[in-house]
Amino acid sequence: MPQPPPEAPSLVEKRDADNILGTYKRTPFHPLSGKGAKLVDADGKVYWDLLAGIAVNALGHRHPRLVKALREEANHLLHVSNLFFHPAQGLLAERLTQLSGLPRVFFCNSGTEAIEAAVKFTRLAAPGRSRMIALEGGFHGRTMGALALTGNEDYRTPFLPLVGETIFLPANDIAALERAVTPDTAAIFLEPILGEGGIVPLTAEYARAARAAADRVGAALVFDEIQSGLGRTGHLFVFQELGVVPDLVTLAKPVGGGLPLGVVLVGARIAPLVKPGQHGTTFGGNPIACRLGLETLSEIVDGGLLEGIRETGEWFGKKLRNAKKRSKGGIVDVRGRGLMWGVELSRDAAEVQKALLAKGFVVGTSRTKVLRLLPPYVVPRPALSGFIKALEEILREAPKEKVS
Ligand SMILES: Cc1ncc(COP(=O)(O)O)c(C=O)c1O
Repeated sequence: MPQPPPEAPSLVEKRDADNILGTYKRTPFHPLSGKGAKLVDADGKVYWDLLAGIAVNALGHRHPRLVKALREEANHLLHVSNLFFHPAQGLLAERLTQLSGLPRVFFCNSGTEAIEAAVKFTRLAAPGRSRMIALEGGFHGRTMGALALTGNEDYRTPFLPLVGETIFLPANDIAALERAVTPDTAAIFLEPILGEGGIVPLTAEYARAARAAADRVGAALVFDEIQSGLGRTGHLFVFQELGVVPDLVTLAKPVGGGLPLGVVLVGARIAPLVKPGQHGTTFGGNPIACRLGLETLSEIVDGGLLEGIRETGEWFGKKLRNAKKRSKGGIVDVRGRGLMWGVELSRDAAEVQKALLAKGFVVGTSRTKVLRLLPPYVVPRPALSGFIKALEEILREAPKEKVS
């Protein structure tokens, strides 16, 4: 069937502004289609997508395997609820338990829902305790429980009081962690690489200290791998890379192959504590999202993507560090691994992000001065070297006083 011509971007923007609640500050960018790591906008201009819908589109856009699976599933059922069985849920759960070593899976619809579920499950493991430990700059979502764990005052303050009591600690400060964890502690929530917080990786020593501190008082250790997990670092799970087994692991973003899906991987200590009726959702574990998740996982693991991500990450890290040396202070720091990188600038990242978009590169930001790169796992190296070239041009061109 012939498609109607796309609407003028100005019309789309006006209708949104007139009707959609103002929770988002949108960039005037109108991607209409994509293929692999490329996006095409309303004017036919092509961009390298180095953000992947905020770490969602792991296999890039319109991956043939996902398009085929979507068509097949759409011929069966769009939704069945959790009152009944659908094979895709069990198949995805089986793959996740085998690959993670954590014995049970809970399905929901988003990252923040996975965190909410994890908060409830930790309460079952430590009845009567409501004190939680999380990291300064950490991000776990926007619902009340997830917000209670999010270490950003701007997000939290308008909504106080939140759930329970959270102590926020600086990342990688083992002494502070050991002091803060007491017999009142219900759980320690950690992003193994802080995403919104500016791409800050936790050290393996810190992860081990968190495991030991949790064990010392009978608290749960929760890894939020919603942004960093499922292959982004070149390892399927960051906890496996760090050599620490958490009690709960939250996943979302790429786990539904682009459709909404959230997951809690539940360890052997907590799994038997959760009884029917204690948690649930109408939509969680949607059959199509689970089927796309299964295809995505299989492509990442069986398709050999992880090794390529590790190699590309090492190559890109070297290139970024060289660019930092050349930048005369314009690039202050580069952090990350695999396909999760933060480039900290001496100036406002939002301005540079806008200039990169004009040059054909879609990137994100975190905090005020960090460019955040979360490209699809299929990103070709020229897209990444092109990004560095474009960034260096922008840093040379832009008068500092205007943007700092
Ligand atoms: C580490 C982390 N946790 C939780 C969330 C919340 O996920 P969602 O936006 O799917 O609710 C995000 C989203 O960016 C995240 O990066």
